[in-house]
Amino acid sequence: MLNKKRGADKEDILLHAVQPLLHWYRDNKRSLPWREDPVPYHIWISEIMLQQTRVEAVKEYYRRFLDELPDIASLAAVQEERLLKLWEGLGYYNRARNLKKSAIIIMEKYQGNMPDAYEELLKLPGIGAYTAGAIASIAFGEDVPAVDGNVLRVITRVTGDPSDISDDSVRKRIAGELLKTLPKGQSGTFNQALMDLGAVVCIPNGQPKCDQCPWKELCIARREGMTDRIPYKPPKRQRTVEKKTVLVIRLKGGVLLHKRSAKGLLAGLYELPSIEGHCKKVEALDYVRELGFAPIYIESLPLAKHIFTHKEWLMKAYLVRADELSETNDITKADGQWHLVSPEEMEKEYPVPSAFSAFEGYIRQK
Ligand code: ADE
Repeated sequence: MLNKKRGADKEDILLHAVQPLLHWYRDNKRSLPWREDPVPYHIWISEIMLQQTRVEAVKEYYRRFLDELPDIASLAAVQEERLLKLWEGLGYYNRARNLKKSAIIIMEKYQGNMPDAYEELLKLPGIGAYTAGAIASIAFGEDVPAVDGNVLRVITRVTGDPSDISDDSVRKRIAGELLKTLPKGQSGTFNQALMDLGAVVCIPNGQPKCDQCPWKELCIARREGMTDRIPYKPPKRQRTVEKKTVLVIRLKGGVLLHKRSAKGLLAGLYELPSIEGHCKKVEALDYVRELGFAPIYIESLPLAKHIFTHKEWLMKAYLVRADELSETNDITKADGQWHLVSPEEMEKEYPVPSAFSAFEGYIRQK
């Protein structure tokens, strides 16, 4: 009985929340490139980029991406390495690979037109419930919710819902509640208003700006002083720390890169060569000799760190200058995984993950 009543209360809160939010959005909507003209392809690309990446960081990637790949046909045809280069720095590279896979399917099965229904969109690689909801509602006006972490935060706060938002059944339940509440015919606007409220007012880190919130009279978390406990998130799993020794091997004006394996973390991207664990100079020099080079100079570089979702690289590093390869031992000729490239080629053509950006200056250094 109590639960039923609480459910009814929540529904009531959400129904009362719709109009104030739409009014607030009319006056406070962020001006974003993908909002100017909601072409389905543009909405799709922006939504994929915006997963895990901040709006400000996405803007420039978005512009560059569409300059080079202006439509689904060009995305379907792009070389994977070029695609990864356009994605370089955004991380979670499978997002880019899935874009291309989906573009190929759209060319083959949908005559190059983005499917216009939520259920069809869901069938495409890399498109889950959130992205399908965002594309279907924003680009095609379908009345479906788009529930990401920001939306979960604002909805659990306004309804005073202490559930664990990392639990998928909670996301599904909230999507169901929103489906009943959506203002029919304006769902795309409503979904984007929720996103903006979460980004600008009911922010993820730090104090929410409740005095600016269109829901300040409705919000249970605010009334009960619970905004620091809602949304509830279980304690984070500790990241494992991997120690590595990274080598910036300079030779003949170029730098040595290694192509990572096609599976696993940063699959298929190019990296600076590295050795497991933290090595001394003599070990690093031995490694360089094993690769077939004659080291002539070695210098320790500052320790660098890169944080992934579940692991962290703690990177000791050396700059090594080496002499020309002997033709017979030249690993860059013997093995397609090793490449000697100029800093300019690296910048233009080779996708190198930002895990290595701390070493960029040493790669460019003459
Ligand atoms: N975050 C995710 N999708 C978004 C969108 N379409 N607009 C603003 N922020 C977003």
